[in-house]
Amino acid sequence: MIVDHLGRQFRNLRLSLTAACNYACTYCVPDGKRLLPANAELEAEEMVRAVQLLIDTAGIEKLRITGGEPLLTPKFDALLPAVMQMGLEDVSVTTNGQLLPRKAKLIVEAGLQRINISLDTLNAEHFREIARSGDLETVLKGIELMLDAGLKIKVNMVPMRHKNDDQILPLLDYCLERGIELRFIELMNMGHLQGNALFEVQFFSMQEILDLIATRYEFARTDAPFDSTAARFEIPGAGVFGIIANESEPFCRTCSRLRLSSNGKLYGCLSNARSHDMNEVLQLPDALAMVKLQKMLSSALGDKQLASFSGEVTVMKFIGG
Ligand code: 5AD
Repeated sequence: MIVDHLGRQFRNLRLSLTAACNYACTYCVPDGKRLLPANAELEAEEMVRAVQLLIDTAGIEKLRITGGEPLLTPKFDALLPAVMQMGLEDVSVTTNGQLLPRKAKLIVEAGLQRINISLDTLNAEHFREIARSGDLETVLKGIELMLDAGLKIKVNMVPMRHKNDDQILPLLDYCLERGIELRFIELMNMGHLQGNALFEVQFFSMQEILDLIATRYEFARTDAPFDSTAARFEIPGAGVFGIIANESEPFCRTCSRLRLSSNGKLYGCLSNARSHDMNEVLQLPDALAMVKLQKMLSSALGDKQLASFSGEVTVMKFIGG
């Protein structure tokens, strides 16, 4: 068992299928620049083996499939059914929803129970200003398809001052009406936002979000699982929402996340650019691979921050949110 001095272990794996994305969100990539997709990405079979090795070595219990945009790559079609058979406690997918109508059948047939969909506004014009691509109606259609199939949905929204802060209440209403849990994600000081004045201008805090919601709803804080990143709130009789408050309420002390990028690099912390190359390990037979991996994971666990997210130049697109 790999545990650090704070009792932290890797329990949740976030697997980035590809660094490619069909959006270019303002909070993720710089103005007008689409980052080139990482080359030398792992094949679906290599990713499946990597997941199995990480289950066996680190005790991974939960898997999140992310990107880039995971539905963009054909790897998704092969990987999802395979990981659904691994006996994991939980498998979920984070997607921007643009390809959901096309992949809905595959997702439902694979037996996925939960899905997180990014949606920053219900205004079609502003949608294109933030995502710099894509189409709002397609995402809404995708959400309806997932609801019809009975999946549990979370919607991720990054509130930004003067950009989409006017959408906090409309999106909350949209989600409450449909039994969807809305997750507000405080803008993170990552990638091109590091040292950028834009971060200070656009950052919209947990308290500001709560103050705004309080103008319409009464709510109370509820319990969240101990290693959850979100503060959760219940609006009696209406539903729940969450806030992932990286800045206001950092959650590093109970962080159980491990990330594997699409080119085979393990990251122990979102706030640390240090990575550990798994490619070599994947060339070895299981027993030897696990010995090597054990060492790598102990080192990766040491990359975690003690208390709070301090920002990093790494881009979400490459390591997944
Ligand atoms: N700040 C907050 N969230 C971010 N995401 C990506 N970049 C950032 C950032 N700088 C998250 C968004 C999106 C998900 C895929 O990644 O929540 O929905």
